[in-house]
Amino acid sequence: MNIILLGPPGAGKGTQAQRLEAERGMVQLSTGDMLRAAVKAGSPIGLKAKAVMEAGELVSDAIVSALIGERLDGECGAGVIFDGFPRTQAQAEALDLLLSERGRKLDRVIELTVDEQALVDRITGRYTCANCGEGYHDRFKRPSAADTCDNCGGHSFKRRPDDNADTVRTRMAEYRAKTAPILPYYEERGIVARVDGMTSIESVGAAIDGLLAEPAVG
Ligand code: AP5
Repeated sequence: MNIILLGPPGAGKGTQAQRLEAERGMVQLSTGDMLRAAVKAGSPIGLKAKAVMEAGELVSDAIVSALIGERLDGECGAGVIFDGFPRTQAQAEALDLLLSERGRKLDRVIELTVDEQALVDRITGRYTCANCGEGYHDRFKRPSAADTCDNCGGHSFKRRPDDNADTVRTRMAEYRAKTAPILPYYEERGIVARVDGMTSIESVGAAIDGLLAEPAVG
């Protein structure tokens, strides 16, 4: 099963993708994570992407589509969760091509619907384990033991440079202008479902599990 998790910054795409990966053996393909790794490594792609990401704008379609293509050639487990990709019409069309070239197809597009005002709170409170990348939040998801990662026992945590109120507003504007308009492309196929992303992490997860248990209409 191959699915897209769609929603504005902070909607919970990464949180739910990590859970699906852990519980179902699916593979999370997050273009944001891939780009951050490239920035950290100082690779040519990272050097191009760094300033664009820090401004909250979108990296070029060609770069992110190539990153996804490379990963689709690797181990895809029980299916793929596209997290943060596609973000433009050109990326949506590129994804169709990448999948069909590999004899795969898209089964579901799940849109997490959210109240944008609440997202600034979510994003500015977010942090991750510096060792394994497990995600946490100052109020909504703290480690069980203070300053210790539940997943790997690490004691070092970090925050993203683009998780500040100004950049978040640009990221949301980019979502409204370029990403939300791709929904009709998938609605025509009958594979879009919506989940209320404002309920608890567990409730959002249960709603997604319910959708994955039933076949899409398209
Ligand atoms: P990316 O890394 O994809 O960031 P994003 O889309 O802005 O999404 P986030 O990671 O901020 O949010 P999320 O929905 O994953 O929320 P999360 O689960 O962490 O992209 C970063 C940048 O890279 C872009 O701005 C762009 O420059 C570039 N880029 C990436 N992909 C690209 C592409 N395809 N094309 C071009 N450029 C690209 O949750 C947020 C917090 O809330 C967490 O702390 C979590 O614990 C908490 N939380 C989650 N769910 C709930 C809930 N239900 N209730 C309470 N708290 C919750």
